[in-house]
Amino acid sequence: MHCVRKVTEDLFWVGGNDKRLHLFENIHPIEDGVSYNSYLLLDEKTVLFDTADWSVGRQFIENVEYVLNGRKLDYMVINHMEPDHCASMEEIILRYPDVKIVSTEKALMLMHQFNYTVDENFIQVAEGDTMSFGKHNVVFVEAPMVHWPEAMVTFDTTDGVLFSADAFGSFKSLDGALFADEVDFDGEWLNEARRYYTNIVGKYGPEVMDLLKKAQTIDIKIICPLHGPVWRKDIGYILDKYIHWATYTPEEKGVLICYASMYGNTENAAHILATKLHEKGMHKVHMYDVSKTHVSYLIGEAFKYSHLALLSVTYNLNVFPAMENFVQDMKRLNLQKRVVAVVENGSWAPQASVLINETLDEMKQMTVINEEVSVLSSVSKMTESELDSLADSIIESMSQSY
Ligand code: FEO
Repeated sequence: MHCVRKVTEDLFWVGGNDKRLHLFENIHPIEDGVSYNSYLLLDEKTVLFDTADWSVGRQFIENVEYVLNGRKLDYMVINHMEPDHCASMEEIILRYPDVKIVSTEKALMLMHQFNYTVDENFIQVAEGDTMSFGKHNVVFVEAPMVHWPEAMVTFDTTDGVLFSADAFGSFKSLDGALFADEVDFDGEWLNEARRYYTNIVGKYGPEVMDLLKKAQTIDIKIICPLHGPVWRKDIGYILDKYIHWATYTPEEKGVLICYASMYGNTENAAHILATKLHEKGMHKVHMYDVSKTHVSYLIGEAFKYSHLALLSVTYNLNVFPAMENFVQDMKRLNLQKRVVAVVENGSWAPQASVLINETLDEMKQMTVINEEVSVLSSVSKMTESELDSLADSIIESMSQSY
């Protein structure tokens, strides 16, 4: 049975929700699922904006057929060729063989690589090209590396609707909601929107800022992303979040404490540091065991807070693997502009600090607090005092930064 929603009088959400998938991109846990959004415009011509992942393909096809209600499909605009959005393209082409496919030159290359036969019906568009479907006119805006090189967004100048591809997306299935103003976005969605952005697109901050600068020149009334809710109110709220994330600017002054501990002694140091921060008046302190928390959650939190405290045991003369993965992932995702405190532990040859610092040195605008604490097996009176001093330095740095 179809399951669709109206976005406007003539635009319909025809996507699907996957609540069964455990790992998005086979790497990021999605306990609350994910939506694959596709939109169908009924004008003098009928226009489908992107398709959906094959996991929801049956629902998607049923939705398209229901909204078309016997009409043929004239156009399929492909804003992004990643398979979570284009996997159902082939089925659309089989069912509507005359459909014209509208996308970029690089998208055509990817269509060939994914073995889609589209050449005869392909209409290549580039930055600034326009099309009219009747009442609705659209302009195509290239958005390279948001999140793949072929990506574009499409702006419906008639109704002010931006089909934003991966931008402004989120993890979580929609569960009947469609619009961000129908849910408690700040309370129930923001963390998942941040985790989605930072892990999927976070590396490409400059490219996202290029797109946001272009977006500032158009009068956007509705944002239709490929995942998560549609924005028709408070667009400034989500734009502000994106500007923070894309410029690697912390959203909040606070301390993210991440620790890697084998027998509880490094964890003990983390608790002591957290306690001292609270005692000294810093109450935005969030602690995670890197062995128990998937790195995608740590990345989301690292993009949120101004200060990081990384406490790691030494393991095989290296950084503990889960901490090493977190630090390297921050580097891979281009995280910048953070103040970092490093605490190491080791029973005979502690190495974690020097190795973590080497990676931080390779990142941009990372300020390491020059008070390294080296725990030898367990926290001693001396290291307890050093942790107290480190808490002072973290708090002092907050008045100087951010
Ligand atoms: Fe949701 Fe880059 O695909």
